Parts: sequence; C-alpha cells; structure tokens
Amino acid sequence: MCGIVGILGSEPVAERLLDGLKRLEYRGYDSAGICTIHDDQFDRRRAPGKLKNLAQRLSENPLPGLAGIAHTRWATHGAPTEDNAHPHIVGEVVIVHNGIIENFKPLRDALIAEGREFYSQTDTEVVAHLIAREIESGAEPRAALAAVLPKLHGAFALGVMVRTHPDLLLGARLGAPLTVGYGEGENYLGSDALALAPLTQRIAYLEEGDWVAITRESVEVYDRENNLVERPIVNSGASGQLIDKGNHRHFMQKEIYEQPVVVAQTLRSYLRPLESRVALPDMDFDLSSVERVVIVACGTASYVGMIGKYWVEQLARVPVEVDVASEFRYRDPVLLPNTLGIVISQSGETADTLAALRHMRSAGVVTAGIINVPTSSMAREVDLLLPTHAGPEIGVASTKAFTCQLAVMAALATNLARAKGRLEGEADVVRQLQQVPEAMSQALSHDAEIEAMAPKIAVARDVLYLGRGPEYPLALEGALKLKEISYIHAEGYASGEMKHGPIALIDDQVPLIVIAPSGPLFDKTVSNMQEAQARGAQVVLISDAEGIAQAGENAIATIEMPTVHSLIAPLVYAVPVQLLAYHVAVAKGTDVDQPRNLAKSVTVE
Ligand code: AGP
Repeated sequence: MCGIVGILGSEPVAERLLDGLKRLEYRGYDSAGICTIHDDQFDRRRAPGKLKNLAQRLSENPLPGLAGIAHTRWATHGAPTEDNAHPHIVGEVVIVHNGIIENFKPLRDALIAEGREFYSQTDTEVVAHLIAREIESGAEPRAALAAVLPKLHGAFALGVMVRTHPDLLLGARLGAPLTVGYGEGENYLGSDALALAPLTQRIAYLEEGDWVAITRESVEVYDRENNLVERPIVNSGASGQLIDKGNHRHFMQKEIYEQPVVVAQTLRSYLRPLESRVALPDMDFDLSSVERVVIVACGTASYVGMIGKYWVEQLARVPVEVDVASEFRYRDPVLLPNTLGIVISQSGETADTLAALRHMRSAGVVTAGIINVPTSSMAREVDLLLPTHAGPEIGVASTKAFTCQLAVMAALATNLARAKGRLEGEADVVRQLQQVPEAMSQALSHDAEIEAMAPKIAVARDVLYLGRGPEYPLALEGALKLKEISYIHAEGYASGEMKHGPIALIDDQVPLIVIAPSGPLFDKTVSNMQEAQARGAQVVLISDAEGIAQAGENAIATIEMPTVHSLIAPLVYAVPVQLLAYHVAVAKGTDVDQPRNLAKSVTVE
C-alpha cells in the first residue's frame, strides 16, 4: 500500500527520495509526490499514476532542498488525483500518511465548523490541519504532534515536517510500519528497510504507538505516553541494489521460477535428513498440549491455512479452524484453552491478520507465525516465529511465498503429529519433502505448453477451478491468481460442490481447470469433471501421467505433473496454476506485477 520516505540530508534529497519511492513501488500505489523545504519554503511535485509521471515533473521542474518527504499513495479516501496525492500542505505543515484515520469525518466536520478549508478528499488532510492548528496556537512541532496523536483513531504511519523547522523530521506509527534510518550526518524515515537500503543499513523499527523526532545528528523516540524510549538499531541486511527481474519479463515470472530454490532454502531450515526428522525452532510451550488449532490469514495465505487444515487433521488428529482474518475478531471467536493460534503472512503487516494475532494474544492464546518478513510487526509479536525464506516478493500476486508457506505448514503439521504421538514414518515425510524442489522444476518444464494454451483461456469471461481435498484450496488459489492479474472472473470450487449450484454456470464458453493428482479421490473428481463436460465445459486437466491416461481424453488440454506423494502435491501443482494465470495475464496485456486496484501489503482494514 502507501509508502513513505523522508530524508534530512547533507546533500540534495529529491532524487534520493524518488529512488526510495521506486523501491516501494511493489507495494502498489496510484499516485505519488515529493515535498522539500528549500530557502524556508515548501516546494512540492505530485502526479497521479506511475512514478514515471512524477519523475517527468521533477525533470521538467527540479526540486532543490536538503530535507524532504515523499509518498506513494494507494487511494482510500478520494480518487487518485493530483489534489489527493500526498504530501499534503496545510499552513506551516507538510504531511505524508499511510493507513486510514477512521474518525476523520467528525474531525473534519469540527475543523470546517471552525472555518478551516479543505482542498482534498483525503483523511490525511485532517491530520495536517490538526497539527497546523496546534502550531498556529504556539506549540512547537514535537508538542504539536504529541497533542494530535491521541485524537486519531485507526491505523497510520506519518511523516511530518514544519516549514519553520527545516532541520526536523517527525514520524509516528500505529498499526502501520515505520522505520528510522541512521546515516552519517543524515537521518531517514521509511516505510520499510528496503526503501532506505541505498541510504543506510542501520535501522530502528518503531513500535506500536511510537513517535519520533529526527534531526541530522539525533533521533529521539517516544512511546505513546511520551516517554523517551530506546529502540534498538539493527543491521537491516536489505540490499542496496534495486531488486531486478533478471532475465524475466515480470517479477511474478521470476518469482515463480525461483520456487525450487527458495522452497529448498525454506525446507533446509526445517529438515534434518541425517536424523530423519522435521524440526521446528525452539519454543517455550509444549506442542503436545495443543488440543485445537486456529489458523487466521488473508487471501493466498488463508488458502495455505486451508491446506494446513487437511494436513494437521490427517497427521495429528487435532481439530483445525481456518478463518479469514477480516472476519475473525469481529465474530467474537470462541478461543478455548490449549489452542494454538497460527497466523500466516508474507508481509507480516496485513492489518486484519495483525489484528487477529493481537486478539488471540490478548485472549491468552499461544501463537505461531508463518511469516516471510522477519522484521515485520507480526514476526516480532508471535510467540513462535516460523520463518519462510522466500526472499523479497515483489509481484503483487503471491507465488513463491505461497509455496514456502506450504513447506513450513507441512513441517508444523509433522511436528504436531509427533508431539501427539501419531506420527508414523517421519523418515518418509522427510524424503517426500526433499523431493519438492525437483518436482517443482519438472512442473516448470511445462511452461511453454501452458503459454501456448493461455490465449484460449484469455478470451473467456468466466473460468472455474475444481479440486478435492488439499487441491480444493488450490482451486481457490488458482481462481484468485487468475482474477487478480488477468481481471477474468474466476471461481474455485470443491469438485463435489459443482452440482449444488455452480454447474449452472457451465456452457461451452467456460473453461474448467481441474486439479486432480491421481490417488484415492481422483475418480470422484473425474466424475464431477465429466458431469461438467457433458454440459459443454472446456476442461483443462492438471494431473500426472496415470490421471491423464485415465481421464484426459476429452480435455481441451492436459498439463502433466510428475507423480508425487499426496502430501507434496499442493506445492507441485501450485506451479502450473500460477503459470496459467501468468500467461493468461500476459496474453491479455495487463500490468502483471502491479495489477489495477491491488496493493502488495494491505495495511488497512
Ligand atoms: C495474493 O496473490 C494476494 N495478493 C493477497 O491475497 C495476499 O496473499 C494477502 O493480501 C495476504 O497478504 P500477506 O501474506 O502479506 O498477509
């Protein structure tokens, strides 16, 4: 979602701010802007659309100044126009903001009643007015910010500068991440360490409710009670190089291709082949006491949770509940003793999942997190961090994070099964998991076939996906992937559900993607597939040699996967599902890495 960069520099900042924004592009945005202070005046450039529009404005009309703040905006209140783009200037104050001020309406109404004028539709402008009002009544900038923060409800990360104090950069966070970067004679503010990586590796992560006063020589962090506090400076390890696409046309394609390597990397930290054991990091609770599991996540990560439910229930015989995070805390969930709460998240910052994690913790539930960004809010708040090692995922459509999350979920299910005394053949589980990278490489070798069939799918208005067992959530994932990057309407169904309604959608214009590895459930899925074929469905069958030999005859296309154990099938079958969505989107000419309306890290509810 939105991105913030701020620099109090010893050299001009505009180009460096733009570079920082480029590094935040992956989060998704629809307008951008930069404001500097020069000769005691604000100077600002903003532009709707992609950063190249802002870069164009900067090249036509450069921005001088040694101090400035910059922002990529993902519209929440008001269209992505130049007027709504950040930074917003009100009086002596300039501000950038990530998140949502939930009580902006009454605040705005009260400010208008006082005679203050608004020029944008944003919730952010309310904050600018509130701080400006404090300053107009004589407060110095730190006090003005501290007075305003308690009035704001919602989630926010803020960057603030005051025209009369060009050597001061203020920031604040609540529910949205914000980092401080330490330089030599310069200091910085950024949404994440990646944005600041070319400037510094020395980073402090602000905690919930913190606010910060930055000068070129000093950084003072205050907690929500305005106590001066210390936040450790760590080495971010983030690369200063812009992550590039290598030989690939899109980040998504690169990330699909990285999977054999990153899944192997992830598995390496959990598998102990010499001991025929699947291990977890040390934990200070006893897995054998777990009597139920609650998994909470959003989008693709929630489908990992659904697959995890099959695995945990089958292997460990522990009941599992899976919830989308946006529903979880508002339905007042019943959280019984001896529950293990699991959150799954690539970014570790998804607002709903983070809120669900906090809800579980406040109810006394022990939590584990399958998380890709080790410095994220969730990673810092879970009782047990189970890292994925997918590396930065830039494409908005999650691919390698998904399969790495599955690998960790398999490790967790195995450990739970052992702790419950139900695990038989751990050596076999280790062997199966070790085969995943090779099987994924084999799956990738079908890329050209999938590319060749993509134009047939690209003309469809609706596409349905079918799967059974752990391949049912994969059908949901396939449909999500297709709709988010190709904008084709797609739905995933449990195969057996077809005739309870969705089969009414079937005609000869509707491609039906059937995900069906051979095995005990295969015949049942094939029956459901044939029922749809009898009504004209254009079937693409994704199966192994045996399955295709048995049921591929009337399909418009088949994609042959290697024959794999049912435990690892979802990881392997994810590859053709991702490639199909990718090639259909390319055939349609959409913006694959930054599809319309979507953000990578959804830090608002
Ligand atoms: C997947 O392709 C999505 N873009 C989206 O569903 C994503 O998985 C979801 O927003 C959760 O994000 P997280 O893993 O960062 O929490």
